[in-house]
Amino acid sequence: MIILDKYILAIESSCDETSVSIIKNGTVEISTVVLSQMDTHANYGGVVPEIASRMHIENVTLVIENALEKSGLTMDDIDGIAVTYGPGLIGSLLVGLMAAKTLAFVYNKPLIPVHHIAGHIYANNLVKPLTFPLIALVVSGGHTELIYMKEDYSFKRLGGTLDDAVGEAYDKVARVINLPYPGGPLVDKLAHEGEDTYNLPLPLDDDSYDFSFSGLKSAVINLVHNEHQKGNEIIPQNVATSFQNRVVEILTKKTMKALKDYDVSNLIVAGGVAANKGLRERLSKECLEAGVDLTIPEIKYCTDNAAMIGAAGYYAYKLGRTAGLDLNAKANDELK
Ligand code: KG4
Ligand code: ZN
Repeated sequence: MIILDKYILAIESSCDETSVSIIKNGTVEISTVVLSQMDTHANYGGVVPEIASRMHIENVTLVIENALEKSGLTMDDIDGIAVTYGPGLIGSLLVGLMAAKTLAFVYNKPLIPVHHIAGHIYANNLVKPLTFPLIALVVSGGHTELIYMKEDYSFKRLGGTLDDAVGEAYDKVARVINLPYPGGPLVDKLAHEGEDTYNLPLPLDDDSYDFSFSGLKSAVINLVHNEHQKGNEIIPQNVATSFQNRVVEILTKKTMKALKDYDVSNLIVAGGVAANKGLRERLSKECLEAGVDLTIPEIKYCTDNAAMIGAAGYYAYKLGRTAGLDLNAKANDELK
């Protein structure tokens, strides 16, 4: 029996990256183009939604053309159009969604809605095929989630943040110690140069799979303000180390608990904060000791990109999870 290859053209525009990718059979990246707006938003200390959507409008057509050109394929070769429909910034999502609907309509292709978190999880499929059952830890600027998967495209949410996402807390801590946006990678770097000298709380240290980072973030902000008021200098490296140690401790503790409770020996980590060196080191060590197979994608697949949407989109397509042209963007939506 001949199994025909399936090519998915995917569009991601949920935040400040306009990205288009062509993925074969959910595992092979044919071409990807990512146009980041980060330098523009850095001038404002964070993503400005109105600017983000305007830049997506300016760029989306060019990015689609570039990705197709790089792939050596034409629209005739494409089997389906996958798109991030949510969650994310509504104005940004709408641009990618409109582009995807237009392609689906004009070229008569199925339209495949993909949840952004499903995308982050399936970024791992571009490294090696997912092995089930698995636990996924998704840590980014907008999300902190623990998800159990029994099989392809089956998602059971075990828990997540009750307030700030972990990347958001990193970026706010970075700001208070005078680092530019996005500060997560810089805090990570500083954390490796300092010592854990500040007495910060371990947040939501309970039996649940939920997280809370706003208290820890506020503790850092209060610490810095109090020391300034007393005329004392803070040591940024030590603030970074103390903060990162608490974050890594609680993420690792709850993730290892989920693996044990669900008797699972495969862990995948995804999202921008999966690039964190401290988290990678700690999880690698604990997984080795527990006999858990750990997969973390390379950094270009951790941050927002359309390759991950194309990988997830292939499985959604196989399951017939397509949508009509009345598909709408959703700023918030549970992963199902
Ligand atoms: O997944 P992503 O690109 O976008 C969202 O969907 O949010 O994640 C971006 C987030 C930012 O908050 C950034 O500061 C954080 O990931 N980040 C890091 C590191 N690299 C990126 N946080 C901590 N350590 C890092 N090495
Ligand atoms: Zn993301």
